Amino acid sequence: MGEYAMATSAHRALSPVALPVLIRRDAIAGRIAEIGKQIDRDLAGESVLLVGVLKGAAIFLSDLARAISIQCTFDFVAVSSYGKGTRSSGAVKLIKDLDQPIEGRNIILVEDILDTGLTLSFLKRMLMQHHPRSLRVAALLDKPDRRLESIQAEYVGFSIPNHFVIGYGMDYAERYRNLPDICIFPPDAAD
Ligand code: IMP
Repeated sequence: MGEYAMATSAHRALSPVALPVLIRRDAIAGRIAEIGKQIDRDLAGESVLLVGVLKGAAIFLSDLARAISIQCTFDFVAVSSYGKGTRSSGAVKLIKDLDQPIEGRNIILVEDILDTGLTLSFLKRMLMQHHPRSLRVAALLDKPDRRLESIQAEYVGFSIPNHFVIGYGMDYAERYRNLPDICIFPPDAAD
């Protein structure tokens, strides 16, 4: 209650009701069910290790895992990108490594957004050094207009224009990850 009482007008303006929804929760669920079936077909009779990129992919990974019927385990990595303010320098640093060896295993890197491609290119290069049996990428969202590295995901939930989005795991300054729909973050709402 205290938090609500002390919320700034910016917080109030950004209540879930006021945010423009780009992709509704039922559309997200439907698309993830399709991707799960596709993964089952592509890796029929095999097992898969889903490697989620913290924190944004946590919710996507948890729903995707439940849409997959083949044997499936999880691991997580975390990265940080160097840069000042909102502009990244393009350098990516691993801040949490895998907990287990991946040699000879089918890996799907699970990411919330494929944007410039710098993060996933870095992670793919890193994982390939450990000689997995196969390596695929599942990205819930793809912003192809922003690409700096030539990389494509094998599984894409939705291709979207260049909006900054929040919700369903994605944040602005660590907030809004728990919104069930994917919403457009209004450009004039930044603190
Ligand atoms: P990339 O290295 O530019 O492809 O960056 C991908 C990462 O940038 C994503 O995993 C997100 O953490 C972040 N990102 C890019 N676009 C958005 C957005 O619209 N909302 C929230 N995070 C974003």
